[in-house]
Amino acid sequence: MEGNFNDYFVYKNGKLYCEDVNLESLALKVGTPFYVYSKKAIIDQINNYKNAFKDYPTLICYALKANSNLSILRIFEENGLGADIVSGGELYKAKKAGFPSNKIVYAGVGKTDAEIIYAINENILSFNVESLMELEVINEIAGKQHRKANVSIRINPDVDPKTHPYISTGLKKSKFGIDIDQALEAYKKAVKMEHLNVVGIHCHIGSQIMDVSVYKEAVEKTVDLVYKLKKEGIELQFIDIGGGLGVKYYPEDNPPTPYDLANTVLPIVRQTGLKLILEPGRSLIAQAGALITKVIFVKDKKDKHFVIVDSGMNDLVRPAIYNAYHHIVTVEQKQESMVADIVGPVCETGDFFGLDRKIGKVNRGDLIAILTAGAYGSSMASNYNVRPKAMEVLVDGNNYKIIKEREDYHYITKFEEEVL
Ligand code: LLP
Repeated sequence: MEGNFNDYFVYKNGKLYCEDVNLESLALKVGTPFYVYSKKAIIDQINNYKNAFKDYPTLICYALKANSNLSILRIFEENGLGADIVSGGELYKAKKAGFPSNKIVYAGVGKTDAEIIYAINENILSFNVESLMELEVINEIAGKQHRKANVSIRINPDVDPKTHPYISTGLKKSKFGIDIDQALEAYKKAVKMEHLNVVGIHCHIGSQIMDVSVYKEAVEKTVDLVYKLKKEGIELQFIDIGGGLGVKYYPEDNPPTPYDLANTVLPIVRQTGLKLILEPGRSLIAQAGALITKVIFVKDKKDKHFVIVDSGMNDLVRPAIYNAYHHIVTVEQKQESMVADIVGPVCETGDFFGLDRKIGKVNRGDLIAILTAGAYGSSMASNYNVRPKAMEVLVDGNNYKIIKEREDYHYITKFEEEVL
């Protein structure tokens, strides 16, 4: 029989709970599929980050891309975090959730003019600039707006984060950042630009990092550059080391904690005296979430069994595009088990949540929970196959609140009908 995967999704009398909310009862009330999040899981991890970095001036900017539900953003904002954004849409949501502009940093290789104007007018803490051309364009636009834009240069330290190739961002061959050996020149150009305030340095090497030693390498290279800049008379205010801390997907995973990260990077950053910025996304929200879905059919082919559920790759695309593992458990604890592919209804072979998985023996109508789904789950959802996106529910103790209504067909077709 399946044990507890973490402290927030636990079995009580044979039924899976999120905190003190019985997920079977919740499903009866709100229907399936739905994302459910534990508020306590979010708060606990915020506090882990805060405690780990409490003796050094640090701004923790939550990476909205991991999960940008407004109610979830409010939790981060209320707890004093800043925001790491990558688009005008994320800026809009960050402001709507109440993040002050002086706690917002903006990365991304392809910021449009409209997005740059928007962020300049909001007077954000820093653009994390990814190319020389972007520096020039921000300078030009800021001039036209009669403003000065705060910029940091995102350097690419050429460090292998030893993670999935699709989420490695700090290697020379990747599209992100300015190569570290060209960064000094870029800074020299930037400080001469009239409408820029050069405030910091940024690097982010990848995501789902399970070995914190890779941060040591990246931060050392970044700090080296900070010293070189100092010699040239270029003084910065902060060093932003991005996000990337890994989380538990497999039951046997033992991911690094914010304390491990702090112990690795603080000794290096401390020497510079610069303020530290972090941009964690996944590690703040992944464990807090699960996707709850109902078994529609069980299908047996000779040696192969399929469990077909009412959620699909449109709700959680990570298995389909990264072959990512998400642990799957039954909401009702079962005595017997089975081995099956857990698949969705979408017309794609890649539409699976788990292949050849051992799970409790389920039947039509049973519920299953796909775990560690708080990050890059709902935020990457789509309407493929004209499937309304799932509802989202936030649990706090024995209370729950719907934080996103289930989409309906009218909503999905609205913008097409308007022009019909
Ligand atoms: N900062 C920057 C500049 C980033 O590009 C990212 C993530 C983060 C912060 C946050 O990283 P985190 O702490 O969440 O690892 N969709 C993929 C993950 C893509 C991550 C992209 N960048 C997935 O589902 O695994």
